[in-house]
Amino acid sequence: MNKKQLEQSLVLIKPDALKNSITGFIFSQLSEVHTGARFAAAKVVNVTRFLAEEHYAEHKGKKFYELLIDHIMGKAHYPEQEKWKRRVIAIVYQGPDVLKSIRSVAGPTNPHQAREERPGCIRALGTIVPVKDAKGNIIDNRMDNLIHASATTADAEREIKLWFEPHDLPPLMRAYETEICTTHYYYKDGQLYDVYEPDSAFLLAPGDVVWKTDLEILESCALNEPVKDRLNAVVAKYLINKN
Ligand code: PPS
Repeated sequence: MNKKQLEQSLVLIKPDALKNSITGFIFSQLSEVHTGARFAAAKVVNVTRFLAEEHYAEHKGKKFYELLIDHIMGKAHYPEQEKWKRRVIAIVYQGPDVLKSIRSVAGPTNPHQAREERPGCIRALGTIVPVKDAKGNIIDNRMDNLIHASATTADAEREIKLWFEPHDLPPLMRAYETEICTTHYYYKDGQLYDVYEPDSAFLLAPGDVVWKTDLEILESCALNEPVKDRLNAVVAKYLINKN
C-alpha cells in the first residue's frame, strides 16, 4: 500500500450527534461510496477532561475553550444524572485523500455558515446554542457542529496517536511506525513508574506494540529528561474508559 492509500483522519462523532440520533446519517455520509474512506478503527469513549484538554490543547486560552471542553465531554448535552450517556464515537478512517474528502463532507466549522454555503453537508444539521448567565443574559455562543475531523496530516497523526493504541488498528492499517515495548509502565499523578504503585494505572507491559514516538517519550521520561508536558498525550489513550 502506498503512502496516499494510507492517509488517515480522526473523526469524532460528538455528543450532540448522539443525543439527536443522527449517527446513522453521519456514518452514511462518511461511507466509502461518498468519501473513499474505509474504517481502520472505532471506539465509544467517555471523554475525561484529561483527554479533552489534550485533544484541544491548541485552543487553550481561547474564549470558547471551556465551552468546547464541556461539549466534547458531553456535559453540554447530558446532565450529571445522565452522565453515563456522555459519549463520543472515535473513528479512524483511511483512504486516498481522506482528510480532504471528510472535511468536505463535514462542511464549514460553523453550522450556520455550513447551512448557507454547503446545504446537505453534515454540519448543516448542527446548531449554535446561546449560552446564558444566571440572569438569562446571553454571554456566549456554543457551536454544536456534530463532528470533529482532522485538518492536516500532522493533526491526524497527533490525534490518532492520542485516541488509539496500535492494537486498536489491524496491523496492515497502521500508518505510523511502531515498536515493541520492553518494560512495564504505570502512571499516577503525572509520574511514570516501572513497577506497580498503589492506585497507579497500568499502561504497558513487555511485548506490547507501542507507537514509536510514544515509546521515545516514555523512555525519556523514565530517564528524567524534560519531556513531561508531552507525557499526558501518551498516557491519555491508555486511560480511556478505565474509570
Ligand atoms: S477549525 O476547524 O479547527 O479550523 O475550526 P476553528 O474555528 O479553529 O475551531 C476549532 C474548534 O473549536 C470549536 N469551536 C467552538 N466550540 C464551541 N463553541 C464555540 N463558540 C466554538 N468556536 C469554535 C470548533 O467547533 C472546532 O472544534 P472541532 O471539534 O475541531 O470541530
